[in-house]
Amino acid sequence: MVALDGPSGTGKTTAARRLASGLGAGYLDTGAMYRVATLAVLRAGVAEDDETAVAALVRRAGIGVGTDPAAPTARLDGADVSAQIRTEEVNRAVSAVSAVPQVRELLVAEQRKLIREAVESAGGVVVDGRDIGTVVAPDAPLKVFLTASADVRARRRSAQDAAEGRQSSPGTARESVERRDRLDSTRAVSPLRAADDAVLLDTSELTVEEVTAKLTELAEGRGLLG
Ligand code: DC
Repeated sequence: MVALDGPSGTGKTTAARRLASGLGAGYLDTGAMYRVATLAVLRAGVAEDDETAVAALVRRAGIGVGTDPAAPTARLDGADVSAQIRTEEVNRAVSAVSAVPQVRELLVAEQRKLIREAVESAGGVVVDGRDIGTVVAPDAPLKVFLTASADVRARRRSAQDAAEGRQSSPGTARESVERRDRLDSTRAVSPLRAADDAVLLDTSELTVEEVTAKLTELAEGRGLLG
């Protein structure tokens, strides 16, 4: 298995999916699980800082993600919510929901189960997140932590928003990206941070093809191909 961590806008998700396809492995987007949980909270009208109510709701919510790298899907109570979890409303609330300790406990347990299942069915899995190398799978044979400058990440985010038909500008994208990183890096439980044994990869000057090639080379070097 490959643990891929880092903030948004580093090209992590695209490169992780391509790496997984190349390896013939599964792909697990743990961010999508926190996003589905957040959508459930928003839809129920629960305040995202009401930890008890948020935890109770997330415990009852049917949060499902598919692990096929060609078509990752996100479901809430059986309905496909892959598009609904990418809105600015969810972006704004997801850090608060993912900072609730009981939410993390529930989702980390589910992630470990999905990792075991993907390893059994596909022979391996690439896991995309913030705390995979530090908390979810500290024994992963390959851990990579992706970084990129704030400018580059904001530009990528804005381009991605535009490509997916959402309103965006580099200014608001930068604000949104920086705010979320600040919250994700400073939360008390499992903050965004590189594992001591992670390979650091700065993607500021790299295309997604180059990032994928670098990850593939690293995986090959550890005998994780095929
Ligand atoms: O990767 P993403 O942008 O879809 O993640 C959405 C949010 O979920 C991110 O701001 C922090 C949280 N997250 C987390 O706390 N732990 C993870 N393993 C993955 C995501």
